Order: sequence, then structure tokens, then C-alpha cells
Amino acid sequence: MEKDIVVVLGIESSCDETAASVVINGRKVLSNVISSQIDVHTKFGGVVPEVASRKHIENISLVVEKALSDANMTIEDIDVVGVTYGPGLVGALLVGLQYAKGLAYSAHKTFIGVNHIEGHISANFIEYPELEPPFMCLVVSGGHTFIVYMKDYGEFEVIGQTRDDAAGEAFDKIARAIGLGYPGGPKVEKVSKEGNPDAIKFPRANFHDNSLDFSFSGLKSAVLGYLNTKKMKNENINEKDVAASFQKAVVDFLVDNTMKACKIKNVDRIAVAGGVASNSFLREKMMQEGKKLGIKVMVPRPILCTDNGAMIASAAYFEYKKGRTTSFDINAIPNLKLGER
Ligand code: KG4
Ligand code: ZN
Repeated sequence: MEKDIVVVLGIESSCDETAASVVINGRKVLSNVISSQIDVHTKFGGVVPEVASRKHIENISLVVEKALSDANMTIEDIDVVGVTYGPGLVGALLVGLQYAKGLAYSAHKTFIGVNHIEGHISANFIEYPELEPPFMCLVVSGGHTFIVYMKDYGEFEVIGQTRDDAAGEAFDKIARAIGLGYPGGPKVEKVSKEGNPDAIKFPRANFHDNSLDFSFSGLKSAVLGYLNTKKMKNENINEKDVAASFQKAVVDFLVDNTMKACKIKNVDRIAVAGGVASNSFLREKMMQEGKKLGIKVMVPRPILCTDNGAMIASAAYFEYKKGRTTSFDINAIPNLKLGER
């Protein structure tokens, strides 16, 4: 008989956050523990994969135990163990995956491998308990930039994607170029608040095939070119204006294409997901444009946008409801595609 209440333990270790969470029926979060490695990687100016793997090994048991105890549960109370198996850094993924397999196997729990990007999208089911597919989703993280039409749980149609850098990656690179350091996104956002977004007009990639794809490498080169020219001429650089103008260029591109995607698919709801969805300028611009066009815009709170175990638990729950479980011989897949199993 199908259970009314399904308790999922979600585990995430695909990049630089070791995270675990207990979620009921894919929507109600009982605990959400995130151990960030940001301080460790900051001195290297970015995530060092080998260091990330070692830190995950140090933290994984503590994080999972805390997630269970914060939820007032033991492993016996869990029905399903869900874990990210891709995409991400292979060494980092393996730590969470092997841990989750061991736990699920030894405690005789259902085991489900989750696609990290689908996890990000699922954060919206937690924030908006009434939300059901279909809807349009903009996924913007450090490694991925997608406009996806989510037709049903676990069913995705990619409408647009980046042809080079991800949006978060562009933020990180520009932050480094203007001397803000890692992690770039939040730092660019912070200095942008004091800058003029219209000070410098940076170009946007234009595709001639009506595609809703993105490209951020040209924008990145334009910013670097601007900085170099200024330096060569010994002119002052206003970092705040550069950051604000760059941020506006990225956000306008993301918002315009997502709104066009809604028009094409005749959809009136957009869910935003991924680390860059924490960006307040993006959130505001999306809301403003949505309002003008009669499109409802949903963005989870920042703690659900960054990498976390709750979104993985939520995605695992909806897989479980579809009757999909995962075999214990599954491997980590660093370049796992959206919708691929
Ligand atoms: O989803 P996420 O936590 O990890 C990945 O799956 O990649 O996203 C991390 C990315 C980083 O590139 C980071 O700079 C960016 O999200 N990010 C932001 C902000 N907060 C995080 N980008 C712009 N504005 C922010 N406030
Ligand atoms: Zn992520």
C-alpha cells in the first residue's frame, strides 16, 4: 500500500557544500544542514576539486547525523535516501554517493540518485507548496544556465541554454578580474548596489536563429577589454560601475529570454532556481517584467537557491512517486544531462 507520508533524507556533495536534509512529501523541510567550504577555497580563488573531496569526507557523517537529529529522527524513521549523483565534480559527488549507498543499503532503505539540476528546480516545490508542473524554469548556477519547460514531474524540455560559460561562472570570472575575489556572485551584487548599471554599455550575444540560448563569454571579454584599455590609458576604473553594468547585462539577457520562452510556450508561471537566483537584482527584474506581462514569478529564498540537501530530498520524493528507484551499482556522472537517468 502506498504511504501517505514519505520521509526523505537528501544528501548533496556535488561541489563545495556538504549538505543533508530531511523533507516530508517533497515539500516540508524538517532539517536543512549545509556545511560550506567557501573559506577553504577562498584562498585559492576558486573551488579546488581535490580539496573539496577531502572536506566532504571530513564532513559528511557529521552533516547527515545533524540533519537527522535536527529533525528528531534516526535513520529508522527515513523511507528514502536521495543523493546527487551528477552533474558535478566527480570526486566530490563520489563522497556523498558512496555514503548514501552505504547508509541506504545497511538500513534497508529505498535509494534514489538525483540529478543536481533537477534538485535546484525542486527547491520551488518547497517554497511554493501548491506549485505543480507545468511551468517555465530558469536555472542559473555556477555550472549551468538553462531555460527549461517542466512539463511534469521529472519531464523537462530544454528551451535555451548557454553555449559557453554559465551565468554564475561569468559572475565569478568578472569578480576575479575586478579584484573582488571568490565567490564572485554575492560580491558583484554587493558592490553593484553602489554602482551605476547604465554607466557602461556591454554587448549582448545575438544569435541569428531565433534561439533562446545564452552566451556569456563575449560579455566577459568585453569587460576584460574595457578594464585593460582603462589600465593602458592609466585611467581610473570605477569597479562599482563595471560590476553594476555587467550585472545588468547578464540579468537583462536572462530575463528577456525567459519571458520570450513563456510567450512561445504560452506559459504564465516562471520558477527561478540555482545559486544565481539569490541575486536580488535578478529577482527584482524578473518580478517587474513578470508583472508587466501577467506572468507569475517564483523564486525560492536564498538558502534554498544555494546547493542544499532539501532540494535533493524533494526531487527524490517526486522520483519515488513516479515509481523510480535507483540500483546500488549507479556511478557518479560528472556531466549528467537534465532529464537523463
Ligand atoms: O547553485 P550553486 O550554489 O552551485 C552550483 O551548482 O554551481 O551556484 C553557485 C554560483 C556561483 O557561481 C556563485 O557566484 C553564484 O552562484 N551566486 C551568485 C549569487 N550568489 C551565488 N551570483 C550572483 N549573485 C548572487 N547573489
Ligand atoms: Zn548547484
